[in-house]
Amino acid sequence: GFTPRVFSGIQPSGNLHLGNYLGALKRFADAQNKGVQSIYCMVDLHAVTVWQDPVELRHSTRELTAGFIASGLDPAKSILFNQSQVAEHTQLAWVFNCVARMGWMQRMTQFKDKAGKNAQNASLGLFAYPALMAADILVYHATHVPVGEDQKQHLELTRDIAIKFNNDFGVDFFPITEPVIEGTGTRVMSLRDGSKKMSKSDPSDMSRINLTDDADTIARKIRKAKTDPEPLPSEVKGLEERPEARNLVNIYAALADMSVDQVMAEVGGKAFSEFKPMMADLAVEKLAPISGEMSRLMQDVNEIDRILAEGAGRARAIAAPILRQTYEIMGM
Ligand code: ADP
Ligand code: NA
Repeated sequence: GFTPRVFSGIQPSGNLHLGNYLGALKRFADAQNKGVQSIYCMVDLHAVTVWQDPVELRHSTRELTAGFIASGLDPAKSILFNQSQVAEHTQLAWVFNCVARMGWMQRMTQFKDKAGKNAQNASLGLFAYPALMAADILVYHATHVPVGEDQKQHLELTRDIAIKFNNDFGVDFFPITEPVIEGTGTRVMSLRDGSKKMSKSDPSDMSRINLTDDADTIARKIRKAKTDPEPLPSEVKGLEERPEARNLVNIYAALADMSVDQVMAEVGGKAFSEFKPMMADLAVEKLAPISGEMSRLMQDVNEIDRILAEGAGRARAIAAPILRQTYEIMGM
């Protein structure tokens, strides 16, 4: 048996948004507060699979760290660090590049989405990204990974890599990690298009609520969110064919820590002109303290760098022996 250990990561590529908060940060804080050992990583090596401006990358890494802390992650309880500061991730990733099969990688839908039509021009790193992600997780023998829906396929690949490594070398060395994808916040959709997920990389700023948005901006984005002309249905069932309405109700439920049933009991039958202001008030109430705390923390970047360096030391203390054993199993 493996000791329960949680790992997850977020890319420091700017525009930390409501989907990242509800699908990741808020749930990380809940996991930490249940007392499980938790390791959270600013995955800058993933970010650079597409070109990043160096000044912005450094800023985004610090801002993301501030976002973690402002969302309730306590650097004294959880390990918070920056991926490029712990070399064991890329060392194990090379091993996994040799375990994973080309065919497995070619099936990854996120690569297809991100590479777009001109896949020949995508970086080799973007293609290999899921093997690095498997290394991020398995270099800590993490047993649980809280993520959003969008990461499900990558987690399956992580499990396949662990299984193949264990089989190839006749060992029971890497755990078969469980994805933890539960709750209304794991699939937050764009405010402009109910069929697309809310994302950092969406060119439209109106499509997402950024954690750095002020109260007026949050209210305006919710007021302008795309909806159909009907009022909210009176029953949960009535949301089925209405992706935009369902998305707003899901966001409300996740922010309020309520079930969709509870929310519908409260708001079912209301017009959007009534529901949207309620939603804006709730979003501002929950997000304003986070954005305020983020800007306060960003005034002392030396302290943030100190927290990341300390976290990297603690992460390396777990990762180095696991990498050493991996090499030993392989005869290196
Ligand atoms: P993005 O996709 O916006 O670039 P990342 O890939 O860095 O964000 O993902 C960071 C975390 O946030 C992951 O756990 C991911 O599953 C989660 N996440 C990203 N977008 C959403 C969303 N729209 N809804 C719920 N969770 C999300
Ligand atoms: Na993503």
